[in-house]
Amino acid sequence: MSDASNLGLFVCFEGIDGSGKTTHSRLIVERLCALGYDAVYTTEPTRWSEPGKKLRESFFAPTRLPVEDEFKLFLKDRLFHVKSEVIPLLNDGKIVVTDRYYFSSVAYQGARGLDWQYILEENEKIAIIPHLVIFLDLPVDVALDRIASERTEGVNTFEKEESLRKVKDIYLLLADRFPKLITKIDATREIFEIQKEILKLIKQVQNNKQ
Ligand code: ADP
Ligand code: TYD
Repeated sequence: MSDASNLGLFVCFEGIDGSGKTTHSRLIVERLCALGYDAVYTTEPTRWSEPGKKLRESFFAPTRLPVEDEFKLFLKDRLFHVKSEVIPLLNDGKIVVTDRYYFSSVAYQGARGLDWQYILEENEKIAIIPHLVIFLDLPVDVALDRIASERTEGVNTFEKEESLRKVKDIYLLLADRFPKLITKIDATREIFEIQKEILKLIKQVQNNKQ
């Protein structure tokens, strides 16, 4: 794995489902563009690669893919994302804001029982290290309430709650392990307050890099 290009800035958002990643990554891209920066939103799993499409289909299947197979698809999709989007955009000097990256594999496939050190090592072979990882920290019950209030169909909350707790524990472990890379943000607050903190953080990292 190599560091992100010196030209652009690579920021990624991580957190459990419903923690606000899509909201904040999209809003910060709009804000940065309004301030004159050249910022671009990307997401994983991607919508265009074959593994990305397979993964998105699998989310609606009655049974989950075996965790090893699921992990390999995420890894292949990530390679596609890095090569076809992240690297070219960084080389163009852009701020790349991605909604999920390899920490999602560590947390989610780790929560399904795959050794998280192994997941990290496999990712380190193909991914590039971002300049900043923003972990949106939200209690599982609050995240589930937010998801439930935006959906008409029900969420299987019991099963979801248990697995999201495991996912969150791994994210917290990663944040402890990589304190310089991963910044934990209290996501229980109002959207505008969180955005202010995110903008400040990105500007700081941008300035330190120059
Ligand atoms: P994720 O991408 O992490 O799954 P979303 O950005 O889709 O999360 O947010 C989940 C739901 O919570 C959405 O309905 C969104 O509008 C809402 N939401 C996001 N951030 C906040 C916040 N700070 N306060 C209240 N609701 C929020
Ligand atoms: P996403 O569309 O970001 O879901 P949400 O907006 O609800 O957070 O991601 C879909 C699912 O994919 C999500 O439940 C987390 C999972 N996922 C993994 O399990 N491993 C990974 O490496 C990635 C990128 C996502």
